[in-house]
Amino acid sequence: MPEPDAPYPIRAGTPSGLKPLARPLMVAFGEEITHAELEEWQHTSEADRWLAAYEGETPIGTAAAFTFRLTVPGGEVAAAGVTAVGVEPGHRRRGVLRSLMRRQLDDVRERGEPVAILWASESAIYQRFGYGLGALNGQFEIDRARTAWLRPEEPAGRMRLVDPDEALATFPAVYERMRAVTPGALSRTEDWWRWAILHDAEHMRRGSGPKFRYLYEVDGAAEGYALYRVKGDWDERGPRGQLLVVEAVTPTPRALRGVWSFLFGVDLVRTIRASREPVPHPLQLALADPRALGMTAGDGLWVRLVDLPAALAARRYGAVDALVVEVADAFCPWNAGRWRLATAGGTGAAVATVSRTDGAPDLAVDVADLAAVYLGAFRLSDLARAGRVEERTPGAIRRADALFASDRAPWCSTMF
Ligand SMILES: CC(C)(COP(=O)(O)OP(=O)(O)OC[C@H]1O[C@@H](n2cnc3c(N)ncnc32)[C@H](O)[C@@H]1OP(=O)(O)O)[C@@H](O)C(=O)NCCC(=O)NCCS
Repeated sequence: MPEPDAPYPIRAGTPSGLKPLARPLMVAFGEEITHAELEEWQHTSEADRWLAAYEGETPIGTAAAFTFRLTVPGGEVAAAGVTAVGVEPGHRRRGVLRSLMRRQLDDVRERGEPVAILWASESAIYQRFGYGLGALNGQFEIDRARTAWLRPEEPAGRMRLVDPDEALATFPAVYERMRAVTPGALSRTEDWWRWAILHDAEHMRRGSGPKFRYLYEVDGAAEGYALYRVKGDWDERGPRGQLLVVEAVTPTPRALRGVWSFLFGVDLVRTIRASREPVPHPLQLALADPRALGMTAGDGLWVRLVDLPAALAARRYGAVDALVVEVADAFCPWNAGRWRLATAGGTGAAVATVSRTDGAPDLAVDVADLAAVYLGAFRLSDLARAGRVEERTPGAIRRADALFASDRAPWCSTMF
């Protein structure tokens, strides 16, 4: 059924395959889809989760979603991973994105997924739809000559070059170890591993070399891994290659040391660049000269609480308390109103009951404010300093900080 206000009717599915749907998206990004890319999409995308806005029979805008599990403090939650958002430039700024977002969030709600998440091409786009800054994204580029460790010691294990099949057999268990304790991390299917992580195609290289896959082992047991490429170059002073880290996963301190020592040691490389890294980063504490990283922190995962009570009940809390929160949610009005968040059980792993109430509110927030504290990227007091939340009962923000406290900062290393 077309949306009553939609400028162009929206239909779900891929009745004529993915190729016609790729077109508005590719034009929006100024690109052209290759045969190889289409093949990857066939393996990873979910046909029934594609939405397209049509002019006649021609798709002019799209939005799709992946089905993920998102790690939250103390647990995980079903999350729709919003992707493939694009409007053909001849139809831009006529409300096509808005109608796609409307339909998509309604669908996500209907599917019973409490949360939607995305990476934004531009950070000004999605806040109007209730997305909040759920995880920061770290980037750095370090000169190989400045990578000394604060406390030098020999790595415990070693890195071994593996082919895609061996990587498929070994990397996921290492990743799962990290995912279990890292808010913001996403589940990966076998197809995702094969096609989105391990696969290497010409169009992915963008001027760099092939993807190398290295497993870090200590006494024969897998404990970390890295995927990287090298962009080789030379000048009058000699080699000045750049090593581009695709992903480095190091669930233990000795894996951190082993994997990064290796990446910092590859010959013919002058700088090492990594672009989907946690903030803060353990390397900022482990290196002798942390400023050499040139670390920057930008917006990472954007989070939308679609079913507010279910989303809040899916995580664990840092304190035992009860607060009444007045929530504004213009785009998903079913979340708006007063909610009582009451926790019980062990401090640090308290379970929440979230129910509607008429009680006097302790705090007034927008749904996007709760998204920013949901995974632990920010605290309510950070939002208060930014003028975004209002305390109605003295001390409520401090109590909310204690409630939403979580063990570690969120990190999402999965691009989608
Ligand atoms: C971003 C994009 C999808 C927007 O589509 P659109 O159909 O033009 O958007 P709409 O007309 O529905 O606009 C909805 C609202 O978002 C705003 N908006 C749209 N694109 C925006 C942008 N790039 N930056 C800031 N605001 C933007 C509009 O001004 C409008 O605001 P309003 O509701 O306050 O009036 C489209 O410009 C595009 O395809 N861009 C290139 C690809 C891209 O960046 N995709 C996003 C991938 S994450």
